[in-house]
Amino acid sequence: MKPVKVGLLGLGTVGGGTLNVLVRNAQEIARRAGREIVVSHAAARDYDPSQLEGLESVEICNDAFDVVANPEVDIVVELIGGYSPAKELVMKAIENGKHVVTANKALIALHGNEIFTAAQKQGVTVAFEAAVAGGIPIIKALREGLSANHINWIAGIINGTGNFILTEMKEKGRDFADVLKEAQELGYAEADPTFDVEGIDAAHKLTILASLAFGIPLQFEKCFTEGISKIEPQDVTYAEEFGYRIKHLGVTRKTEAGVELRVHPTLIPEKRLIANVNGVMNAVLVNGDAVGPTLYYGAGAGSLPTASAVVADVIDVARALTTDPTNRVPHLAFQPGELSDTPVLSMDDVETAYYLRMTVEDKAGVLAAIAGILSEAGISIDAMQQKEPGDADDYVPLVMLTHNVREAAMNTAIAKIEGLAAVRGSVTRIRVEQLS
Ligand code: HSE
Repeated sequence: MKPVKVGLLGLGTVGGGTLNVLVRNAQEIARRAGREIVVSHAAARDYDPSQLEGLESVEICNDAFDVVANPEVDIVVELIGGYSPAKELVMKAIENGKHVVTANKALIALHGNEIFTAAQKQGVTVAFEAAVAGGIPIIKALREGLSANHINWIAGIINGTGNFILTEMKEKGRDFADVLKEAQELGYAEADPTFDVEGIDAAHKLTILASLAFGIPLQFEKCFTEGISKIEPQDVTYAEEFGYRIKHLGVTRKTEAGVELRVHPTLIPEKRLIANVNGVMNAVLVNGDAVGPTLYYGAGAGSLPTASAVVADVIDVARALTTDPTNRVPHLAFQPGELSDTPVLSMDDVETAYYLRMTVEDKAGVLAAIAGILSEAGISIDAMQQKEPGDADDYVPLVMLTHNVREAAMNTAIAKIEGLAAVRGSVTRIRVEQLS
């Protein structure tokens, strides 16, 4: 059988890793795919030949549109990232009847509905395993391995840079900016690192996971997103005293009212396996009605781990080249005509528990006033600690955990507490999940 020809768009961190894996493991890959897979073409403006294997048999050009138009190329692998020109390239590749493999989570989360419709019409596949959690085959697990289940919820650490920052801050007391710089140097961070620290990257990935789990269209614009930049070292310490760790989680849950879709720092019990996922590692916890909880762990970023997912997609596509397009695994796990219109809930309607930290005047009646506001809003306190006063004044930190309550009720209560004369500054709120 003729070799399958791959056109690589981008020879950077992931593109370079993809070429190297395809060259290094070529024989074993051919044994798995049933035919040889070769990188015949690549488009790259800036690359380091000393880091790349097998370059001599790759035709390299400057313009990615030339690769997409080349009739010799069977599979276009888009590893440029960002929205444009990635979207135009992918749409053109589909129009030209080529299969596409991409690691571009932003592209899939925002434009996936349109891209998959176009691919469906042309009978081509757009594969995107590397878009979520780097090397962890979570898309394959959700789309195929767990297809018997009604998925109840997913909670994941799906941004390696954010997890690396939180881990280094907790374990080594390192400065936020300093750790972020190291993540950038290691090639983990996004081109715009606010995507990592403000949760946008995780929201892209969670949007994709929610669609695969619940059979709903991709709705990135409805994802609630809160980053890690406001977490203070004292919150990490106080959380530990209550038996919790703070992780930046993506959570999506199917409730009777709709689908929760939210990314935010979260207190989780320290005894959960996922609470012990550190550094750049990712983990995704999926709860299905038949299988129960399942946990997927691995490197969420980096050249070779991401290349592992990209190459697995290339092999999948190569195997499916001769199959009837209607018999392939659907892009979003459910058949295209079977996506449901279950609403994505507004954050106001999400129910969760909370960690609250406030700085209050150390005098009689303050605690009673705060407890009164919480009780009026129907919020029940689960645990509370008043810390020692500092030397400087009569104000003390007060930290508490609450039972589950609707976010709207918590917003009202926080506004009232912040209005008390005895409360200084704003109330820090971090959501709490038991993940049980
Ligand atoms: N910036 C991303 C992360 C890269 O740190 O997880 C992988 O998607």
